[in-house]
Amino acid sequence: MPASALMNVMQTAARKAGRSLTRDFGEVEQLQVSMKGPANFVSAADHRAEEILFTELSRARPGYGFLMEERGEVKGADATHRWIVDPLDGTTNFLHGLPLFAISIALERDGELVAGLIYNPVSDETFTAEKGKGAYLNDRRRLRVAARMELAASLICTGIPHAGRPNHDLYLRELRAIMAVSSGIRRTGSAALDLAWTAAGRYDGFWESGIKPWDIAAGIVMLREAGAYATDIAGKDKMLETGSIVAGNETIHAKLLKLLKAADARGPAPVKAAGKTASKAPAKTAAK
Ligand code: IPD
Ligand code: CA
Ligand code: CA
Repeated sequence: MPASALMNVMQTAARKAGRSLTRDFGEVEQLQVSMKGPANFVSAADHRAEEILFTELSRARPGYGFLMEERGEVKGADATHRWIVDPLDGTTNFLHGLPLFAISIALERDGELVAGLIYNPVSDETFTAEKGKGAYLNDRRRLRVAARMELAASLICTGIPHAGRPNHDLYLRELRAIMAVSSGIRRTGSAALDLAWTAAGRYDGFWESGIKPWDIAAGIVMLREAGAYATDIAGKDKMLETGSIVAGNETIHAKLLKLLKAADARGPAPVKAAGKTASKAPAKTAAK
C-alpha cells in the first residue's frame, strides 16, 4: 500500500535518525572492550537521534507538540497534535551490541493515537499503522495478530523489571503464572519492537508494567490496526497513564489478563515507578 503524506513524513524522519543510530551502533562494537565502556557514547547517540527526529518532524509539521523521552513535553502552537517519540528503544541492547532496537514515533490527534511507526534500522524493518487504514511491514505486508487460541501453543513476550525498577516480586508472580501455561516466554528488550512483533503475529501476546508512553504509543496503534486487543492490566483503556499493557488476540488477551490479575491479587499493590514523568494528557487509546 502506498504511504500517505503523514507516513512519508514519519518515514523520512525515522530513516534519517536511523542512519545516525546505525553509524553509532557500528562504533559501539569497538567500545565494548574499552575500560569506560560505551555508556556515554550511547547516551550521545540517543540524543543525536532525538535531535534529528525533532528537527525533521518540526520542519514537516510546524506547530505540532512533542512528548519525547529525552526532551519531555514540548508544547506546540497547534494544541490538537502531538508527536510521542522514543528515539532509541532498546538502549540496553544497543549498548551491548545486540541489533534489536528501534525508533518509535506516534501521532496523537485531539488526544487520540492515530498513527504509529516503529523502525529497526539494522534489519531495515519498518512497521507502520494509521487509524482505519491497517498496519503494514515495509508498506507491503499487512499485519495481522496471531490466531492461536491456546496459551499452551503461544509464545509470549514480556518486559522484566531490573535494578532501579520496583515490583520485582509482583513481576515474579506474574511470570510464574504465565510461564506455567505458555509454550515459551521471550524478553526482547525493546517494548516498541515487542508490540510491533505482536501485531505481526510473531508473538502471540505481550505484557509489561512500569512502561512509558513513548515505549508503547506507536505500538498501540499498530496492535489495534492488526486486529489485536490491548489494555492496561486492569483491562482499561489507560495504558499511557498507568504504564501497563497487555496485548494479544481477543482470546489470548483475555486469558493473559485473567492470569495476571490473579497473580497481582496474591500480593501487595504495585509501587509506581520513579523516573521520567509520563504524559498527563488524556489518551483515548481504546482497544477493539
Ligand atoms: C526500555 C525498553 C525495554 C522495556 C523498558 C523500557 P529504553 O526502553 O523498551 O524493553 O522493558 O521498560 O524502558 O530505555 O530502551 O528506551
Ligand atoms: Ca523506551
Ligand atoms: Ca529510549
